[in-house]
Order: sequence, then C-alpha cells, then structure tokens
Amino acid sequence: MLLGSGELGKEVVIALMRLGVETIAVDRYENAPAQQVAHRAYTIDMTDPAAIRALVEKERPDLVVPEIEAIATDELLRIEAESLATVIPTARATRLTMNREGIRRLAAEELGLPTSPYRFADCVADVRAALDDIGYPAVMKPVMSSSGHGQSVLKTPDDVQPAWDYACSGGRVATTRVIVEGFIDFDYEITQLTVRAKGPSGDVETYFCEPVGHRQIDGDYVKSWQPQPMTPGAVKEAHRLAKAVTGALGGLGIFGVELFVKGDKVLFSEVSPRPHDTGMVTLATQRLSEFELHARAILGLPVDTTLLRPGASAVIYGKFDGGPVSYPGLDAALQVPETDVRLFGKPAAALPHRRMGVAVASAADVNTALQRAELAASLVKATHA
Ligand SMILES: Nc1ncnc2c1ncn2[C@@H]1O[C@H](COP(=O)(O)OP(=O)(O)O)[C@@H](O)[C@H]1O
Ligand SMILES: [Mg+2]
Repeated sequence: MLLGSGELGKEVVIALMRLGVETIAVDRYENAPAQQVAHRAYTIDMTDPAAIRALVEKERPDLVVPEIEAIATDELLRIEAESLATVIPTARATRLTMNREGIRRLAAEELGLPTSPYRFADCVADVRAALDDIGYPAVMKPVMSSSGHGQSVLKTPDDVQPAWDYACSGGRVATTRVIVEGFIDFDYEITQLTVRAKGPSGDVETYFCEPVGHRQIDGDYVKSWQPQPMTPGAVKEAHRLAKAVTGALGGLGIFGVELFVKGDKVLFSEVSPRPHDTGMVTLATQRLSEFELHARAILGLPVDTTLLRPGASAVIYGKFDGGPVSYPGLDAALQVPETDVRLFGKPAAALPHRRMGVAVASAADVNTALQRAELAASLVKATHA
C-alpha cells in the first residue's frame, strides 16, 4: 500500500508489479499518477489518522510504503507497533524525516555528522536571535515543508520579516516553527542514493549508487545528472555520512541522502527515506532504476547498483491552472538521441508551475547527456488541451 501516488510512486508501483506484487495506491486526489497503474486506488486525507487506520484494516497490506512526507506518521507508529503492517523503511524514519527538526537533531546532535550551523525559531524575535549567532547570508525554512515551499535566503536584517511571513504561508501545516541555517557556499550538491537491502548472507547491507548531481531553483529540482565527478576523499566521506544516517533510520529500502560538497568536505543536509526526485535520472543510467532498487530492497530481494552509462534528467513543467493537459512537441523531443520522456499523467497543471514530466537521456559523458535532456524537455510543452 503506497501512501502518496505521485510520479515517484507510479514508477515504484510499476517496478513492484513487474515482480508480481499486488499494489494499492492512495492519494488525496483522484486519478493521481500511481493510482492509474495500481491494482486498486483510494482517495483519502492521509493526514487523518483514522482514515489511514481504516484503510489499513480494510486492505491488510503486508507493506505500507510512504511516498510523501505529509502523512499521519504517529498512526504509522501504532500500526507498526501492533504488527498490522510493516512500514517502509520504518515508522520512526518516516516520522523523523517529515520534520526538519527531527532529522537534523538526529544527524548533527546524536550522530555527530557535519551539517550547516542551525537554530530553530518560533517567532521573528527568535529568528533575529538565531541570526546573531549564525550571521548572513542564511536560509530559513518551515520545519514541515518540502520542495522549497516557504523557503527564503536572508541577506540582510530587512529580509527577516518578509521571509517569516512567507514561511508562515508556505508550510505544510499551520505551524510557525522554522529552521534557520547558515548559507553554505558549496561547490556542488549531490543526492547519494543509498540502499539498505539484504545481502548474500541474509543480513542487511548498505549499497551506494554513483552520486547524482543536481541543480535546484527556489528549492525545487530542475535537472540532475549521474555520475557527479567527486574527489576520492569526498566520495569516501559521502558514503560515511550516508551509511551513518541510513543506518540510524534503519529498515529496508532506498534513501536519497542530500549532501553539500566543497572540496573534500561534505555536509549532511537532509534525507528522504524513499526514492528521490533527482534520482529519476537513474531511469536512463542504471541497470536497476532507483524505483526498481526500492522495490527489490523492500521485498527482501538482492539489489545491483551498477551504472551502465552517464545520464541526465530535466523537468517538464506545466505553467497554467487546470486540465486536461496535452503535450505538443513530444515527437520532436523523442528524436533527440538516447532520450526518453516520462509524462506523469497528472490530470491537471497548477500555477506557478507543476512538474508534469521529465526528460531523461544518456550519452558517453554527462555534459552531452545534460544537453540532450534539456533539449528534449524544452521541446515538450505541457499545455491546456
Ligand atoms: N544551508 C543551505 N545553504 C545553501 N543552500 C541551501 C541550504 N539549505 C538548502 N539549500 C538549497 O535549497 C535546496 C532545498 O533545500 P532543502 O533543505 O533540501 O529543502 P527541501 O526539503 O524543500 O528539498 C537545497 O537542495 C539547496 O540547493
Ligand atoms: Mg531537499
């Protein structure tokens, strides 16, 4: 039972179905991408504990696989404690990672991993006090938010009040708690896709994919590539941090460990206990995509993180409200060599922009792959049909 049925969940369902698994896709709106390919679909409010429990009791799934953060995770803790279902990777991991405070305190304070300097704040005065310590520039984010929603870069004291107002409007829930982080002038950022899966001996082992580099605009991913070139020292440190944080979260499955890299220095930023949007590039690069790796890992099956060829991904946006949607230019995009387009089948687009598809390409080198993916993404238009 997938909780959240977006584009990442759709690929997870397809991967599971190829292994003969019965799938149930749940989301808060009808006809979400994964609901279109699963055996059964339900539309419920996933932040409502009673709604989640009622559905789990009705369907009695073996595995509950969260695809998004905005879920009643306390109910998942109870479902796991009662052995009603196994939560992927664990109920505790889903609860810790849905809140920036939970995962940041675990990584920095319990595990001692290097991160940006940070403080938490509940009002403008707290934010100003935090900035006295951290200094400018800084980044402020609601603790319960994703995809850059409510996130601002603070350059001067004048930025604090507008950033606070924006954070209060952009969070996922009606909360005013934020994290204030020092702005990190990294050389590049990566997603270290990390898989916890059963090894040959039956024990859980940690496997690493080649590093995925990516570019974010306003906290939202626009393109990614694999492999990101790194120094041997940075690779070693990335693996150390990724193993520590995924080991502490536990369970089986793939994790997207977000890291900032400057020279040989690596900072932990955050982690998704599930496939990562920047990892869509693996549809073009790896023998098993991140979705197939997740499917295998959660079923207790062996994994293989082999990279076959360098590649890249570029997002296709719909910049209008409503539907139905059509995609002129798809034929031209598919003429680009070694390029595929995945259209998610979302019933409608939304302003200011909604991710409607992705172009993925491979090539002998990452730069050529990026040119191909970006060209294809620019040729496909998501428009009102
Ligand atoms: N402390 C920071 N310094 C510099 N850039 C940052 C910092 N925090 C976030 N960012 C940028 O914003 C992006 C989104 O932030 P992130 O914490 O990953 O939020 P989300 O949960 O919305 O993905 C990051 O991938 C990075 O590009
Ligand atoms: Mg992120």
